[in-house]
Amino acid sequence: MAVPPYNPFAADCSLRYVLITGASMGIGALFAREFAKNGRNLLLVARSVDKMTLLAEKLRLEEGVKVALCTADLNNPQSPDRIYKFCCDAKIEVDLLVNCAGLSQAGEFSAIEQIKLEEIMMVNMMALTKLTRLFVPGMVKRKNGGIINVASLGGFQGVPGLALYSATKSFIITLTEALHEELKERGISVVAVCPGFIDTGFLESSSHKRADIRLPIYKPEIVVDAAIRGLKNNRRVVLPTLIDKLLVFSQRVASRGMAIGLAGFFAGIRSER
Ligand SMILES: NC(=O)c1ccc[n+]([C@@H]2O[C@H](COP(=O)([O-])OP(=O)(O)OC[C@H]3O[C@@H](n4cnc5c(N)ncnc54)[C@H](OP(=O)(O)O)[C@@H]3O)[C@@H](O)[C@H]2O)c1
Repeated sequence: MAVPPYNPFAADCSLRYVLITGASMGIGALFAREFAKNGRNLLLVARSVDKMTLLAEKLRLEEGVKVALCTADLNNPQSPDRIYKFCCDAKIEVDLLVNCAGLSQAGEFSAIEQIKLEEIMMVNMMALTKLTRLFVPGMVKRKNGGIINVASLGGFQGVPGLALYSATKSFIITLTEALHEELKERGISVVAVCPGFIDTGFLESSSHKRADIRLPIYKPEIVVDAAIRGLKNNRRVVLPTLIDKLLVFSQRVASRGMAIGLAGFFAGIRSER
């Protein structure tokens, strides 16, 4: 008998938890608000304990859901195992994993410190992969679960000025596509959401000058809406805006060189030399 597709708002999910990494601010915090509004219990993961505590108190009070916190630095290779153990010890059953934590550094590849390169790879790829590996078996056992991976429009081609970041997001898209196929018959939806530029503190923390960006900068709500719609419809990859869709579609007719050049032009990162 075919396993029904995963519905994150089904009644039988009400005792389980949505684990959201990068939940202290930006897109991750908005995912938390949206899932809480729909009655889902949450496990928030990030480093900023004060921000998460404030958010958790607000959501408990306003939405009446349970909100657990697990402070973790995903740049630490032990963190995914520690988060998983935290869930086992607290009897927190995770049926939806939202891998949202991520970071970037705008500029020439050769100017980025080694330690920053490692941090970007560790948080964007390694932590996401390990968390997925840890939580998928429980979903498979229950024949029910979902994973939202926050990738980027930058993951569809290399982006000059964002070389490593775009490579990590390509990794996420590729991993998601394969896992989507592996798990779709088992009641598990896996989707990558691939936004363009979004109005959060991310641009400032990655030293990406807003004035130089040659694409619209959208509100984070569009990312959350598109991801949840994609999850419910069991889509593999979702592009939140019409511009995102046009840019990806245009790659079918443009040369690879042109697509990469255009991506660099739109990102607008100027060489400091
Ligand atoms: N904003 C954009 O233009 C844009 C576009 C496309 C894709 N995205 C993707 O969207 C996701 C969320 O970005 P955002 O815009 O919401 O950025 P943001 O506001 O800067 O939030 C980033 C989140 O990641 C967490 N994080 C970063 N490093 C971490 C670490 N070492 N350990 C644990 N958590 C860590 C941060 O928490 P703490 O600092 O509290 O640890 C924060 O909650 C990222 O994956 C990003 O690549 C963003």
